[in-house]
Amino acid sequence: MPKVLALVNQKGGVGKSTLSVHLAIVLAVQGFRTLFIDADPQANSTYSLGIDASEEACLQLFVDRKNIKSPPIQTAEVLSGVRLDVIPAWITMGLIERWPDIKSAPDPKVVTDRLQQAIAARDYDWIIVDGPPHLGYWNQVVLNLADRALVPVPQAGNYPLVGLMQMASTIDSVRMRDNHRLQLLGVVSTMVDKRTQMGRTALERVKIFAEHIHTFQTQIPHATAIEWAQSQKGTNLFATGRDEPVAVSIVNLMEEVKQRWQQSVETR
Ligand SMILES: Nc1ncnc2c1ncn2[C@@H]1O[C@H](COP(=O)(O)OP(=O)(O)OP(=O)(O)O)[C@@H](O)[C@H]1O
Ligand SMILES: [Mg+2]
Repeated sequence: MPKVLALVNQKGGVGKSTLSVHLAIVLAVQGFRTLFIDADPQANSTYSLGIDASEEACLQLFVDRKNIKSPPIQTAEVLSGVRLDVIPAWITMGLIERWPDIKSAPDPKVVTDRLQQAIAARDYDWIIVDGPPHLGYWNQVVLNLADRALVPVPQAGNYPLVGLMQMASTIDSVRMRDNHRLQLLGVVSTMVDKRTQMGRTALERVKIFAEHIHTFQTQIPHATAIEWAQSQKGTNLFATGRDEPVAVSIVNLMEEVKQRWQQSVETR
């Protein structure tokens, strides 16, 4: 069974796409059979991975039930000789949430079931899912699919922390109602600038605000190397700056996620 890790926070711009893409690349480099699912109609990760998506060949397929036996899996060459399977997003996925179209859409649980059936034969080790910046339809699909959720919280005042608390209670209700596997794995501080007082205390602020939620020791620094890596379609940090501290921090975070995952299985 694959481990399904979703990057979620309904607050926008917290680093979900950046982290999810790079965590998936780390796993692919390490030789794990990895699938990346872009569940955000903005399709930022799809662009970042250099995928040419289309309306007919994206996650929307599982809503429309067309061609369900052949999932729209594409392959990105993320580094020379390193390939990552991707189910892309497409901008029109957002229309599903439009009134009154939402009334005729299948229950998100149905979409998750179709998706799980379609990828079951592929034998992945890991599935990394990039979630959208809201608590709507696609977020429900993501939380129904995921085993564990990782919430990025940037060093940017308290708004993303409010988003964290809303996400934590949403995860609790999805776990009780639909997906008993789902657990909030923890919070990771992103875009941290240690030169500032806010940066030096970023982790402490998360701990105070959400004392019952696990916080990862690894912090992701604010780095222009990220913006540089994302300046063109199909590039990534490991191609443009693999020795940068921010790249090292993402590798370290993936190791910590694996350890925390193991602990969460043992203490269940
Ligand atoms: N560690 C970082 N250092 C500097 N910039 C970063 C870092 N992480 C992300 N960014 C930048 O912050 C912006 C938001 O990041 P990203 O798109 O990953 O967030 P998101 O949570 O996926 O956003 P959305 O909610 O819109 O999907 C992007 O322009 C990205 O380049
Ligand atoms: Mg995003």
